[in-house]
Amino acid sequence: MTADALFLRAARGEDTERAPIWVMRQAGRYLPEYRVLKRRHSFWELVRTPELAVEVSLQPVTRFGLDAAILFSDIMTPLPPMGVSIAFDPGPVFAEPVRDADAVDALRVPEPGELAPFVADALRALRASSPVPVIGFAGAPLTLAAYAVEGGGSKDFAAFRGFLRAQPEAAKALLEKLTEVTVRYLRMQVEAGAQAVQLFDSWAGLLDEPGYRRFGLPYARRVLDALAGTGAPRIYLAVGSGHLYGAIAELGADVVSVDWRRPLAAARRELRAACLQGNLDPAALLGPAGALEREAQAVLLSGLGGAHIFNLGHGILPQTDPDAVDRLVDVVRGFDRRAAIAEVAR
Ligand code: CP3
Repeated sequence: MTADALFLRAARGEDTERAPIWVMRQAGRYLPEYRVLKRRHSFWELVRTPELAVEVSLQPVTRFGLDAAILFSDIMTPLPPMGVSIAFDPGPVFAEPVRDADAVDALRVPEPGELAPFVADALRALRASSPVPVIGFAGAPLTLAAYAVEGGGSKDFAAFRGFLRAQPEAAKALLEKLTEVTVRYLRMQVEAGAQAVQLFDSWAGLLDEPGYRRFGLPYARRVLDALAGTGAPRIYLAVGSGHLYGAIAELGADVVSVDWRRPLAAARRELRAACLQGNLDPAALLGPAGALEREAQAVLLSGLGGAHIFNLGHGILPQTDPDAVDRLVDVVRGFDRRAAIAEVAR
């Protein structure tokens, strides 16, 4: 893969001739070829077996001709080496939630070599076989802490939000450990071949700005700063976080992923990021073809003010018809940004 691939040029802030496209959660249950593998292997088996992880990572790239491949894994992957036990059903379920200072003290901060070596193996193999740039990823400390304290997914993460108030010192100790692990984990991924990294702060939007400035921003910034010298563009995603854009602008991410609640043109002014990623509503893929095309065009037009990586605002929904993704890729590939800018200027 050459360094001037479209996705990497856009991620570095270049206003490219067309917007590269990849799709969050592009590998997964909506693909029949993934479901075939899932009949024979558990989720952890797919993640922990490099040949299988590479095969799954490439399934959507091959099928749709996407502009980037993301390693098939999960944001929970670096947590078992810290000493927690996690099952998937289908979302993560912790055997024992982390709810006090003793539980935080018991967490290990593994050496990079002990942190999911199968991820490094999978990335090396993916880099060798992928026709497009390879994205590595991790959960942001705040979001990992939300799952660890809650013990799994939740609509409102009430136990976690209570924990931040009742035991702020334990919360900070937990965030410190998760920050160190995440830095080691992402550096390892870049060394193994990841050409860009995405930090998933999926639940940051649950906090108000003072809460985010206390428990989210400082830790996410340390992770992003630690990766700054690697040359791999750093993408930051926080869903439902429009109320935090003033703070997120201070993170210094190379790319900020925006969801559908905020138009890209407005987000660009507020975030001051060199490149925006997003922001089609994943539900647009469930509607009729004409509506999908119109919504995608609106996203493409709104993204014209600077570098733009086309994506959904959040992960693709499991009930999505893969043919809808084909149609979406056609729309994005057919959209000439230079011609559209000339048109708008006329
Ligand atoms: O994007 C990709 O194709 C790479 C794979 C990927 C997965 N999870 C695979 C997965 C990525 C990037 C993730 C990130 C992830 N995992 C996030 C951040 C992104 C976001 O959506 O905000 C979060 C919060 C998780 C935690 C997690 N893992 C949840 C909530 C679930 C259940 C989701 C669901 O689809 O029901 C998982 C399990 C999971 N991770 C699956 C996949 C394909 C489904 C498991 C299965 O196939 O049985």
